[in-house]
Amino acid sequence: MANSLLDDDGVSNPSSNPTLSDVVERAVALRPSRRRLLLGGLGAATLPFLAGLSACGSDSDTPAATPPATPAETTFGFTAVATSSGDDVVVPAGYVATAFVPWGTPINSFAPAWKADGSGTAAEQEQQVGDNHDGMAFFGFDTAGSGFGERSDEGLLVMNHEYINPEYFYAPDTDADDWMAPFTAEKARKAQAGHGVSVLHVKRAADGSWQHVAGSPYNRRIHGNTPITLQGPAAGHDLVKTAADPSGTVVLGTLNNCGNGRTPWGTYLTCEENFNGYFGWNGARTPSALENRYGIAAGGFGYRWHLVDPRFDVNATPNEPNRHGWVVEIDPFAPAGQAVKRTALGRFKHENAECVIAPGGKAVVYMGCDERNEYVYKFVSAGSFDAANPTSANNRNLLAEGTLYVARFDAGATAGDNMGTGVWIPLVFGQNGLTAENGFTSQADVLIRARQAADRVGATMMDRPEWVAANPKKAGEVFLTLTNNNRRGGTTSNAADGSTTAGSARPATDEANPRANNVWGHIVRWNETGGDGGTATTFTWDIFVLAGQPSVTDARKPSANITLDNLFNSPDGLAFDSFGRLWIQTDGSFTNSGDFAGNGNNQMLVADPATKEIRRFLVGPAGSEVTGITWTPDRKTMFVNIQHPGEVGSHPNKPADYAGDNWIARNASAFSRWPDGATAQRPRSATVVVRRSDGGVVGA
Ligand code: FEO
Ligand code: CA
Ligand code: CA
Repeated sequence: MANSLLDDDGVSNPSSNPTLSDVVERAVALRPSRRRLLLGGLGAATLPFLAGLSACGSDSDTPAATPPATPAETTFGFTAVATSSGDDVVVPAGYVATAFVPWGTPINSFAPAWKADGSGTAAEQEQQVGDNHDGMAFFGFDTAGSGFGERSDEGLLVMNHEYINPEYFYAPDTDADDWMAPFTAEKARKAQAGHGVSVLHVKRAADGSWQHVAGSPYNRRIHGNTPITLQGPAAGHDLVKTAADPSGTVVLGTLNNCGNGRTPWGTYLTCEENFNGYFGWNGARTPSALENRYGIAAGGFGYRWHLVDPRFDVNATPNEPNRHGWVVEIDPFAPAGQAVKRTALGRFKHENAECVIAPGGKAVVYMGCDERNEYVYKFVSAGSFDAANPTSANNRNLLAEGTLYVARFDAGATAGDNMGTGVWIPLVFGQNGLTAENGFTSQADVLIRARQAADRVGATMMDRPEWVAANPKKAGEVFLTLTNNNRRGGTTSNAADGSTTAGSARPATDEANPRANNVWGHIVRWNETGGDGGTATTFTWDIFVLAGQPSVTDARKPSANITLDNLFNSPDGLAFDSFGRLWIQTDGSFTNSGDFAGNGNNQMLVADPATKEIRRFLVGPAGSEVTGITWTPDRKTMFVNIQHPGEVGSHPNKPADYAGDNWIARNASAFSRWPDGATAQRPRSATVVVRRSDGGVVGA
């Protein structure tokens, strides 16, 4: 690859963009004491904001930032919205929803404008907001306006860019049958630049609207070629060394950044999900058991990077896939600091990373591995959160060392009641069969091959674990979306020796995954024994909701909290606000027919965790997924992401002459024009700012 790819952000750009040192110097000018923080990265930031000892995750503000609930505040202070197949965002009466920072937004005042015809270059994309907005967190400034605090009018909005939609991402090239051909290194680099994370300085105006502060030194892109530190037990292991990085400690890029997490020490967690799809190989290859288990295949998902970039050709760089599939920690207040891949949290297809400070003080991170028949994990820190010194290096290193567990869901005392007990099984070298005689060589090896370690210890295969959310009002209560699974109901399980190819098993139903061919998905809830996830190795669980059609009364029937007024399918995003509302986002079928009649477009709903009542709050535009959610500490602004508007699929409004990706690439405004409207040349992912017209708390 070109040497310039080793550079981050504006450094590689020959234009008038700020260099990294420019950014630091401008930030120092803002507040001289920040020099140490900016240059020191994760280890050195100051964190004046003290979090409480209960939930710290769910992308919500922490309990310490929770404003006192007014007597009038209820879980459902809004009127449910009807389903829709339109090309707009629908919110309840009394609310406004405004598109914000779409794909291509210049990251700062020096960055070039986005080209609506898709002809922008890789160098331009490296300085613009990425594609396919996903997990997201708002970090308010402190009262001085220069560090992490609890202001609701100004802060840093940090978001993931999961992948690209090639049919909209590239202007059609010369081959009439293949808009991406000829595929070049420049196109691969542009795609890599469309991935990763954006850090955006944002500010609320007097009228309540939000603006991107383009002149701020905090604005930053981390993308598919940004150097990132590999830290923890797996750093330096032979399986993560490459010719370009013989130390196995610095990785280029973070990819397929799906869900996220937010820590009480002021950092952002971004989760690498379907990283395997970017890899392929040229020539012949017999994939290893490890490659098969993680879904590394000859052609990948069709991105074509391996054709032009040897880093993604597994024959040329066989260990590069092992350097992806991690949780990455980013300090948004240290724009010159390097992000860190935390290998103690294990390598798999990470959905999100829900970080909680347990009552006893341990940092606990709950994580799903999103693929059919994969597992649920939790990490428990070795150290404890120092509540009196939130700025301490101790707290900022809590994810560096700890124990990774995987969940087994048992039927419990009563068969068939959709509840039971569970066990957290430690994935520790030398224990539970993770031994040399079974092929494991070290803790680093166990973490790099976490899926295979979980196979060995007999974890429960789940219906595609998506987001995990911890209840801020009930310590130890945790919810998990299981989005769907069309490979449930057979007789084959992931083999204990780790030899199963990803996604190929078809296990029997069990109590936690009770439906064969689970097309609608469900949400499971567990309660840690003693209410403390930092010490519990057991839990009890039940099913919170089974999505579906109320007219179905056979074995596929939904739970009683599904009505004709709240139909949805494929729950995915999941987060609590600090009041204790559970927000559910969907990424499923928008056909609005058959099993999905009455579901409309993908949507967002609110659930009461105590009563199980569910009410629809928002519907997304045509072809989109609703994913990623965060709030200002006062909860008067909610940020929600709309991903891949315009995905045609089997949408009821698909153009009559639609003929696949090559057609839509050349007719890019024929289906969706969200969010740019009538003059749009193509749809694009964007954040939506949701506010109440009267300035009140969202949802209350
Ligand atoms: Fe990226 Fe599992 O959603
Ligand atoms: Ca049971
Ligand atoms: Ca997702």
